[in-house]
Amino acid sequence: MAPSAAAERRTAGRRRKLVIAMDGPAGVGKSTVGRVVAKALGYRFINTGEMYRALTWRALEEGVDLGDQRALARLARQVRWSFKTTADRVTVRTFVDGRNVAKQIQGERVGKNSSKVASAPGVRRHLRALQRRLGRDGGIVMEGRDITTNVFPDADFKIFLDASADERARRRTRQLRAQGKKADFRSIRDAIAARDRQDSQRKINPLRQAADAVVIDSSDMSLNEVAECILKRISQARQER
Ligand code: C5P
Repeated sequence: MAPSAAAERRTAGRRRKLVIAMDGPAGVGKSTVGRVVAKALGYRFINTGEMYRALTWRALEEGVDLGDQRALARLARQVRWSFKTTADRVTVRTFVDGRNVAKQIQGERVGKNSSKVASAPGVRRHLRALQRRLGRDGGIVMEGRDITTNVFPDADFKIFLDASADERARRRTRQLRAQGKKADFRSIRDAIAARDRQDSQRKINPLRQAADAVVIDSSDMSLNEVAECILKRISQARQER
């Protein structure tokens, strides 16, 4: 039997860097935590939600019918995807046709519609191939909804980060108000709950806990505490190997 990708990474000296996969619901702090963990390990960090958002933004721009899954898959294949590490030398950003779309993909319109785009099988297949390529040599923390279960089911270390919808909505409300923006707790909580439902109930690659993932409920923890806890667990797991 051919060795698994994780086994190959462990045995090939030049590929000893790990793949760390992290999943969890919207607004749970995966990016903040993932970036801290990647930085501490000297790894790169990528938020795969950006790819689904970027495709959603392009589809909205081009007036593609978001109910037409074949058209969405075609668009995913047509787009020229590229990935560049930012000045922090940790975060890998998604570029679409050579364009940095970080600003365009923020906001609830793209966020809400991205769940629809993400339920197209052809889109998921295409993005999964890109994600696997990005993680091929290890040395990466990758977060999303299906990284532990579908993109890297044999990742070296898996985390499922969770927090109640109320706590996630409270954090988001605080964050927006700190930026001087208006934020209504109830509508934020409702939007979070709706996205949870869409992401965990879809037929293809739904959000779920992998059996071998370390589950961390961050409701009563700061995101720095969560990152410290993950780094400790990774170091323990490495010593046991
Ligand atoms: O992480 P973020 O909220 O930006 O992701 C936007 C949407 O992209 C999610 O609600 C989800 O529907 C989709 N997504 C996904 N699989 C991933 C990452 C994101 O389906 N690995």
